[in-house]
Amino acid sequence: MAQDKAPLGRGLDVGTANLVGAEFDAEGNIKLTPVRNAFIDIPEDQFTRKMLEQQRIPFVKRGRSLYVVGDDAFALANVFNREMRRPMQRGMIKPSDADAMPMEVELVKLVLGEPREKGETCYFSVPADPIDSEMNILYHRNVFSGLLEKLGYTPHALNEGHAVIFSELGDDEFTGIGMSFGGGMVNVCVAYRSVPVLSFATSRGGDWIDMEAAKVMGVGSSARMTAVKEGGINISDPKSPEQEAISIYARHLIHYSLSKIIDKFQSVTEIPKFPGGVKIAISGGTTLVGGFQEIFGIEFDKLASQFPIEITDIKMAAEPLNSTAKGCLLAALAEGGGNS
Ligand SMILES: Nc1ncnc2c1ncn2[C@@H]1O[C@H](COP(=O)(O)OP(=O)(O)O)[C@@H](O)[C@H]1O
Ligand SMILES: [Mg+2]
Repeated sequence: MAQDKAPLGRGLDVGTANLVGAEFDAEGNIKLTPVRNAFIDIPEDQFTRKMLEQQRIPFVKRGRSLYVVGDDAFALANVFNREMRRPMQRGMIKPSDADAMPMEVELVKLVLGEPREKGETCYFSVPADPIDSEMNILYHRNVFSGLLEKLGYTPHALNEGHAVIFSELGDDEFTGIGMSFGGGMVNVCVAYRSVPVLSFATSRGGDWIDMEAAKVMGVGSSARMTAVKEGGINISDPKSPEQEAISIYARHLIHYSLSKIIDKFQSVTEIPKFPGGVKIAISGGTTLVGGFQEIFGIEFDKLASQFPIEITDIKMAAEPLNSTAKGCLLAALAEGGGNS
């Protein structure tokens, strides 16, 4: 095996909003490939087919429709004034949508491409079982394992909160709390020297903020609220009723997630001592809203006296959208990455 080749092993963040692939290049840098986890179907006719071909937009044909996936789907949804369709919801593949699986296959192909060696290891992120819904992740995890195997990879599921610990708490011997605030969910993992002590998810994330804010503002679609939220507001200083609504639900989401950590600890009988305290690492797209870190700090202080372990610092991921994919890649690398 040539030494100057990129190390084998892949990471894949399977997020409700975004898929992110991670691999090493020949120089040893991490290469990231993010794609919106979305698609759109357009009725087939000569005009649309020509338009797609001319614009070099890749599509697949299914039945009488043409399907476009990923960031192109987002752009086309705007052109056709339609909503994108999403193969996943609240952290999991939609079992009832017949288009969800075939489109997810296309999306994963786009993100990962072919394995560089047959059976190359791919660690993919999965949520923990959500504490506030009946959903369990077994079906979802197996669907993605099967999908990756078909593409020629050797799949390993990695809990999303655990992936955040791999990517953000390396200087702390992989000890501490990882929290991923995604679109569909919040995932939490507490680990001691890289071994998870407890992990769980809640089915409230960025989408929940948008939906609840839309309801209270009386607007039908939450897309409007998403645009306001992503448009550069500051939740510690809202400037309009819409911004105020988003701020209230974002704050609530933070409080809710932290209070669930406290609840969960009460049900664990053997908690390591964590001498000297630990950090909380926070990541995920939802943390990108202006003021998130500040409000997180304020909400944490309100609950600090109830926290079962001492928290020494709250660390924001350097790249909140890429943390999970990086963590998955590091896990794959730790294992050797190849097929043997
Ligand atoms: N610049 C931004 N400001 C505020 N929110 C953002 C921004 N960019 C993305 N988001 C939100 O982050 C969420 C997606 O985060 P991500 O970590 O990719 O989620 P998932 O893991 O579910 O795919 C969405 O709710 C989206 O609205
Ligand atoms: Mg995620």
